[in-house]
Amino acid sequence: MCTSETFQALDTFEARHDDIVLASYPKCGSNWILHIVHELIFAVSKQKYEYPEFPVLECGDSEKYQRMKGFPSPRILATHLHYDKLPGSIFKNKAKILVIFRNPKDTAVSDDIPDIPSYCSWDEFFRQFMKGQVSWGSYFDFAINWNKHLDGDNVKFILYEDLKENLAAGIKQIADFLGFFLTGEQIQTISVQSTFQAMRAKSQDTHGAVGPFLFRKGEVGDWKNLFSETQNQEMDEKFKECLAGTSLGAKLKY
Ligand code: A3P
Repeated sequence: MCTSETFQALDTFEARHDDIVLASYPKCGSNWILHIVHELIFAVSKQKYEYPEFPVLECGDSEKYQRMKGFPSPRILATHLHYDKLPGSIFKNKAKILVIFRNPKDTAVSDDIPDIPSYCSWDEFFRQFMKGQVSWGSYFDFAINWNKHLDGDNVKFILYEDLKENLAAGIKQIADFLGFFLTGEQIQTISVQSTFQAMRAKSQDTHGAVGPFLFRKGEVGDWKNLFSETQNQEMDEKFKECLAGTSLGAKLKY
């Protein structure tokens, strides 16, 4: 999905101050936040957000950054890249960055897709996940890389589990961070449209054939149905080794 030509061309990408960047490791809920931000933009501008490119910044052909120069603001750019692999113009021009994290155990389970032809087994997938031999590399490398950058002025940390616990409060925080003023009623309406059930029901329309795979269960703690005791201990060890005592480690409420 990401060619070396596109990676090279990424350096030429010119961010704008009103770009909205959604940074996450895969399966941490980026489509959820993307939907919420679309709804927020619609609520404040009455413009349906139409984005003519695949929303992941680093995916697509190498000409896409030229085409993006002509897109209206605000542009929403999802990415799974490490902080220090992002194009410098994002920081120079002070684009707003929403960083989405999720417990690594549920992230691993969500990333495990038994219906694809190359699938072997959960145990094999777990082994690959722990070694970082999965799309976009290691969850833990991603987390270590972002850990130092979560408290910047233009960065807002969002935790999947917090959003599950109180969706309206999370949406309000995102709106405030983006400088959008919405009434309580508007926030409530967006909450109703952003539940897992509401998004899953529309997933064929919004995401086509991949919809049902993408909106799988939308739960916290599904890892308990798949992890063996040994796998649980292995991930706890890895978490300790990589994130214990860090600001992100505390934020993840692991
Ligand atoms: P599960 O596989 O655990 O169901 P991403 O969008 O980054 O690929 O993340 C996909 C995960 O986010 C999936 O998790 C998906 O169900 C979950 N998700 C998407 N929309 C959601 C929502 N409205 N509420 C809760 N979880 C949601």
